This record gives sequence, C-alpha cells and structure tokens, in this order.
Amino acid sequence: MKTIAESALNLRGATRYIDDLPEPRDCLQAAAKLSESARGRILSIDASAALALDPSVLVITARDVPGQNQIGFNKPDEPLLPTEEWEYWGQPIALVLAKTRSLARRAAAAVRVSGENLPALFDPREAAAAADFILPSRTIKCGEPESAFASCVHVISGRVDSGGQEHVYLETQGAYAEIRDDRKVFIISSTQGPTGVQRAVAQSLGLSMNMVEVEARRLGGGFGGKEDQAAIWGSLAALGAWVSRKPVKLYLDRRVDMQATGKRHPYSSDFRIGADANGRLLAFEADYYQNSGCSCDLSPAILSRTLLHATGAYKIPNVRVTGNMCRTNLPSFTAFRGFGAPQGFFVIEAALDALARSMGIDRVELQRRNLYREGDSTYFGMPLERVRAGESFDRLLEKVSWKELRVDIEAFNTSNSLEKRGAAILPLCFGISFTKLPMNQAGALVHVYTDGSVLVSTGAIEMGQQVSRKIALIAARTLGIPQERVSVERTTTLTVANTVPTAASTGSDLNGMAAKIACEKIKTRLTAKAASMLDVDPSSIEIKDGKILVERKSSALGWNELVAAANEARIDLSAHGFYSTPGLFYDMKAERGTPFAYHVYGAACLTARVDLVRATCRIESATIVHDSGNSLDERVDIGQIEGAFAQGLGWTLLEDLRFGADGRPLSDTLSTYKLPNDSFLPEKLEIELMSDMDNPFAPFNSKAVGEPPLQYGIAAYFAVLDALRAAKPDGKTTYDIPFIPEKIEAFLDGEGLC
Ligand code: MTE
Ligand code: HPA
Ligand code: MOS
Repeated sequence: MKTIAESALNLRGATRYIDDLPEPRDCLQAAAKLSESARGRILSIDASAALALDPSVLVITARDVPGQNQIGFNKPDEPLLPTEEWEYWGQPIALVLAKTRSLARRAAAAVRVSGENLPALFDPREAAAAADFILPSRTIKCGEPESAFASCVHVISGRVDSGGQEHVYLETQGAYAEIRDDRKVFIISSTQGPTGVQRAVAQSLGLSMNMVEVEARRLGGGFGGKEDQAAIWGSLAALGAWVSRKPVKLYLDRRVDMQATGKRHPYSSDFRIGADANGRLLAFEADYYQNSGCSCDLSPAILSRTLLHATGAYKIPNVRVTGNMCRTNLPSFTAFRGFGAPQGFFVIEAALDALARSMGIDRVELQRRNLYREGDSTYFGMPLERVRAGESFDRLLEKVSWKELRVDIEAFNTSNSLEKRGAAILPLCFGISFTKLPMNQAGALVHVYTDGSVLVSTGAIEMGQQVSRKIALIAARTLGIPQERVSVERTTTLTVANTVPTAASTGSDLNGMAAKIACEKIKTRLTAKAASMLDVDPSSIEIKDGKILVERKSSALGWNELVAAANEARIDLSAHGFYSTPGLFYDMKAERGTPFAYHVYGAACLTARVDLVRATCRIESATIVHDSGNSLDERVDIGQIEGAFAQGLGWTLLEDLRFGADGRPLSDTLSTYKLPNDSFLPEKLEIELMSDMDNPFAPFNSKAVGEPPLQYGIAAYFAVLDALRAAKPDGKTTYDIPFIPEKIEAFLDGEGLC
C-alpha cells in the first residue's frame, strides 16, 4: 500500500515527460517557422511550398488567432504570432502542423517569409543611450551617498559585465493540446506556471479561463526558463488544436529551443564604492544596464531582485542604485535561477575587490568587517532578523583553516612558475519571497480516502527539485502518518486554481504551508471524531506514525479505522488550504518595505589553480557552509546546493552565450555552448548545513534552498583572479564573466579583451 516516490522513477529512467506519453492516432505534430534576422517588417508569408509537401500540412499565422493576439502578462508587448514586425532572430512567425514531426519541420523550413530588415540594437548601453527602455528606470536611495563619498578616505569606481546563461533543461519546451467536447481546451504543458499558460491560451483563443485546463505533471527541469516562457508554446499548441480540431503536440528540438527562448539577462554595470580609513563601507552606488531583450516578460521582477540584492551580504549606510531595463533585439531574457541576484552579487563583490586592492588590505578582512549583523536594516528599510552572515562566515574560515590555506597557497605560488593557486570567499544573503508581492500565495487540496491513504494537490510543479517529496513529508508530518501513505498529485488548474509559478525558491514554502493548513483542518475533524470514539477530551489526542495516542499512550484505534469511522459518520475527509505570506509590503514610490519573508545565509570558499601556459583554470575545492534552516530533507537540500553551485560555476567560468554582430544566435547547440559537467566540478566539494534555527515562514522551520547557493559559484571568478595576480600583480582587472581562457590570457598578456 506504499506510494512510489518520484525520485525512484527518475532513478530508473522510468519518468515520463510529455513527449513520452502515448499520442492519439490523429495527433498532428507542430513545428515553428522562426525569423531569420534580428528585426524586420513582414511583407508576406508564402505557405505554398510547405502545403505542397503533403496534404496533412497546415500553416497557421497571426490571422488565424481567434482571440487577442497577445500573451504579454506584465506588459502587452508579446504577440502570440507577429503581425507586422519580428523583433529577434529566432522568433516564431508561423506554426506548421503535419502528420509527422519531420514533415512538420520540413514544411516549416519551406514557408517563405518575405520581409524588410529594420535597424536593430543588441547592446544594453546603446539602448539606454537611445532611451529605449522596457519600463521606466528605478532607483533605491538610502542616506546621502553624495556627501558620504566626499567624506570617504577611499573611493573607487569601475565597470562590471556579466553574460547570459542558457537553461539547457533536459526536457526542451513543449506542450500537447486537444479540444474536448468541441469547445474546451485541454493542455499538458511543460511549464512552471500552469495558470499563466491557462490565461495565455484563454486570451489568445477568446475563451474564458474555465474553458481551459492546463496540466503540468512534471518537468525535465525548468530553472526559470519555463516560468513565463512556456506560455507561448502552450498557446501555439492550443491554437494548432483549435484550428485543426485535432490533437497537436509541439516539441522544440534543442536548437530551436536555444534560438527561440529567453535566457538569463546579461548585465553591464557601473559602480562607485567608498570606505573610511578602517575599511568600514560608507557609500555605494551602481547603475545597472539590464539587457532585457525584445519584450517585458519578467524583466521588472528580475531587476527588482537585482536592486534588492545590490549590497550583497554587506551593511552600507549610504546607497543609491539605479536599474535600467534596456530593450534590445534579442530573445526576451527571462528568469534563471537566482533571478537577477547573481548579477547584483557580482557587482558588489567586484566593488569590494577593487576597494580592497586600492586600500591594500585583505579582501576577506574587508568582507568580514562589513557583514550584516542582527538588528541591521537594509538600505530599503527591511529590518533583518535571525541574521547568520557572520556566523556562517566565521564557521567557514574555521572549517577551511583560512590562515593556513593562505600560507599554503603562497608557498605553492613561490615554488611554481607555470601554475598559480588562488582562493576567495563569498558570503550569501538571499531574500525569500516573490519580488512581485501579489505572487506570494498558494492553495492546496487534500483528500483522505476511506482506506486512509492521502492525496495532496498543490500548485507546486515537480521539476527535479523534489518538491513533491517535501510536500508529502509535510502532509505526513502534519497528519501524523507515515510518508508512504501520502501521494502528491500532478498539478492541474482543475484542482488548484490561480496558482503562482513554482519559482523564487518558494515552491515548498508556499505550497507546503497551504498543504499543511489543509491537513490541519482534516486533522482537527479526525481528532474530534477520535475523542468521541475513545470518550476522551480532544486535547489529549495525538496522531503519530498512524496510531492514535491518548495522553501519549497508544490506544486501540488506528489511523485506518479512524478514517473509515469518520467516513461512516459523514465527516468531510477533504480540505482546501490557502496560504499567503504574512508581513510583506513594499512602497514602490518610497522604495521602502519588507519585500522578503526571510533571508538565506551562508558562505563559500573556493580555491583555484591556473595553468599560465595554457591560460586555463580549475576550481580545486569548494567548501560551503549553508543555512537550510531545519532542513526537511538534508539529502535533497545538499543535492540542490550542488546543482545550484554547478550552475553558478558554469555562469562564472564557462557558459559563453554569444550572438553575432547581426544578432544571430551563435551558441545554439551543445557543441557551441559548453555546460559544466561532472569533471568540471571541484574534486573536493564539501557542504555543511548549519544547525537548526527558527523560521516561522516555512513549514517546520525549514528554509527555501533552490536558488541561493547558485551565488557561491561567483567566488570562482575571484579565486581565479587571486591566482592570476600571483603571476602578474599589476595585471589589469576586467570584471567580466564568464572568465573564459581568452580573458585569462588577456589578463596575462596585458592586452585588451577579445
Ligand atoms: N532543481 C532541479 N532539479 N530542476 C529545476 O528546474 N529549478 C530551480 C530550483 N532547483 C530547478 C531546481 C529554480 S530556478 C527554482 S526557483 C526552484 O528550484 C523552484 O523550486 P522550489 O521552489 O520548489 O525550490
Ligand atoms: N523570483 C522568481 N520569479 C518571480 C519573482 C521572483 O522573485 N518575482 C516574480 N516572479
Ligand atoms: Mo526560479 S528562476 O525562480 O524559476
């Protein structure tokens, strides 16, 4: 009577994603016709050559959209299919259906789009100079940075650049759609946000939302790429089904996925930082030029997270940070694990590096001196509670024997001329909650069946992070039964409505709390029933491991019997739970508030070794001290820390997302876009979870874990830089990631960057 865990399916390779599901015999396959330049005006679309290939071929364009040709949620700037202009290289212009996938792809290639190219922009600073912004810029200000800079003993400024990042989820984007009862639409979507897909489909087909059902069973990874940007593929599949009146499957091949979909936002930023004679940070300012791509998408929420993480884990009394959403003719950049925070972290860490160097003091000492402490408020007015920045930092220094490590490294560097070693530390302070306030809510539906087994449905999407395991654990702990009695159901808009995407690392926080609330309702009813059956006071009853205890002693009554008796007595064995994070508010005008429920802390120490002849580097070791609260499942959390760290390392050292001077995607295959693999990771990767701490904002004092540890990867840049400086103390530092061998070579050769 045990339920089978998702992870067991994953391990056996038995997990089924959408493309593994059996298709109805009349199912059509879809392919998208993509634009082949960065910006242009559509003059005509000629489908004749495509249609001539096979009678099953259908070519669908903007004209066939029955509802509003618009799926932009934050701003109406995303037509489902363009009517007049395309805005980036790889934008879907037409949808092609055919009886097989290869035929659909050939037919898509045969569609002729004639158009006229228009001038295009790719650089965020150029877009800013042309005042081409997605939305107005935002500034958070605290204290008097101008006068504070005047009183600083040390002031330094500089420029920082960080590249984009491709999600490379195992399962590419896709959806299956069918028309039911001739008027309803059913979609299975590989999405982190089924409600967003439901809304986009309803809007573009001209239906009300109750005519559209979206199911998301599980994803082969999302990493943010399917938070908003699954909506277009779900809507195109639905449009195909609507027009053809047949089931339609749309699945992108890897290259199309890499060309057509959004990635992490590249940023270019300027900073100025100042300190007193003792190395106390007094003032910081930054201007972030976010390369937003061609449409709004999630850019404002991502910029918000950058602005709210601008000073990293450091207390700075005088701050002015300005964020600009620069519109360019590239795919619309979107959510990627960290969601704008890594871009902000790299800037503040670069600023500290520049300052330490100009002051001639130890970078780690400068970091440590300025960490947030209990009772501090952030520059946007949020008081910090249960601060663990200093604690994690000091524990890390002790764990890696920092002083001895430095001595070892210096000894190595003195006796080696072809290789150098370096080390760096990065402290973490990451805010948990959606930066878009209304999104901090979740619902759950719990059924207890008459045999005592339990089914939980929530808005949480399983994408490999084991959120369903955590929710099963939370439900079991709340009800007092073994975890094997709980099954977590796939997410569909039928069971839980108006869900927010599973994102912002809040999946198990929000949905787990909602499930807990629903389980508590049922438990209260069952406890009352048990009390009347055993003729005792309800307050003396406890349910534990499936047994009913009275005053902590076992009784004759078990969970199964209690549930059956409750059903006989016509007691409701189902409940809906709803949770909204308490205490959040943000005044957008004043740029002040408490936008986060809590922060996640930690620190990482990385050591690097650079081969000066080949200009290559390796991260030798990584030691991480991380605050997972009272972890729900340590193995899952450690897995999440490892995965996030690997992606952070990839972003910092390896993953080189490139577009040509004409906006053509150049890194659109796995042979031109390198990913971190097992051998890229440090041989020594040690993770220590900090001991428990109260956290009233997540189930059983746990903490969100998905995104924060990605930041640790950024330390790799500074560890490599440290090694390079051992070889060339006067080398010119360019804060520009990914720190690929070409840039390492440029540092060593003293030439400009490639
Ligand atoms: N882990 C796996 N295996 N696959 C994923 O797609 N996405 C990450 C993180 N961990 C992801 C993952 C991102 S971007 C987020 S926001 C969180 O998981 C979302 O899930 P959670 O809120 O349940 O942690
Ligand atoms: N993180 C992830 N997704 C989001 C957020 C966030 O903070 N805000 C809105 N969507
Ligand atoms: Mo994660 S980037 O919030 O999906």
